[in-house]
Amino acid sequence: MGRLDGKVAAITGGASGIGAGTVRRFVEEGASVLIADLDEDKGAALAKELGATVGFLGTDVSKEEDVAAMIAETTDRFGGLDILFNNAGFGGALGPIESTTVEDYDLTMDVLLKSVFLGMKHAAPVMKAQGSGSIISTASVAGLRPGFAPHLYSVAKCAVIHLTQTVALELGESGIRVNAICPGFIATPLAAGRPDADDSQIAQMREAGAASQVMGRVGEPRDIANMALFLASDESEWITGREFVVDGGFEAGPPWSRWPKFARMERPIRHHRPPDR
Ligand code: NAI
Repeated sequence: MGRLDGKVAAITGGASGIGAGTVRRFVEEGASVLIADLDEDKGAALAKELGATVGFLGTDVSKEEDVAAMIAETTDRFGGLDILFNNAGFGGALGPIESTTVEDYDLTMDVLLKSVFLGMKHAAPVMKAQGSGSIISTASVAGLRPGFAPHLYSVAKCAVIHLTQTVALELGESGIRVNAICPGFIATPLAAGRPDADDSQIAQMREAGAASQVMGRVGEPRDIANMALFLASDESEWITGREFVVDGGFEAGPPWSRWPKFARMERPIRHHRPPDR
């Protein structure tokens, strides 16, 4: 028996990376899934590969009419909406604050934050009518503290965590749970720095990134998909309003044992005793 048997999910950004890994994981566990993504080629190909329980809809998550259409297509096709995974994203505006344009700001916030608001807004009435639902959004360790990503990406992801909490407080009484996932460094085209990165470019990134990781490897889409699966399933039925860090220890900080000073130490430091009085 699958952990999502009979459940219906919509997954934004489901054509690539974390989203595609989650589509596969949810289908393995018995869910029907609508992939909603800008990338029509990859999204339609994945839906075709996975068969009749998976559909695809070309969607720009920054546009309200597209998000509304995604929810309508999911319910029309599969008869309900148990799980919404607001996951689509991109790197957003790069560079110094003084050269960031208002257009860059708007696009970054529209794709990374407005999209999550729109997903929650349009999923809520359907889930309220059912009396149940799980809304999951992809934030980032960059939303927990500065230094992991550019300004606007970090701010948008921080706001995704806060929105998750405020909306969870509103929708809890309707049986709807709202949570976020904060991935660390995951081997996807986004982390490789280009949406069209191929397998060999992702493999290079995986190899180069491993040294900076506490557990000796970067994350894989499946690491995040497993957390999304838990939050989507009834196993997490008493969990709402929280962000879950899945980062192999990355956000905890650089391991002390790798500090240069530690490496130079040849013998343990003796206890410091106060002088006898
Ligand atoms: P990816 O580049 O593999 O996948 C992102 C997907 O989102 C693509 O299929 C793309 O077409 C789609 N997309 C982008 N803009 C869209 C729009 N306006 N409307 C609809 N679809 C759109 O990247 P990845 O890494 O799988 O990213 C998924 C989420 O995970 C993003 O929200 C990202 O910010 C987040 N994340 C990724 C991390 C990483 O290290 N890869 C770390 C922390 C968070």
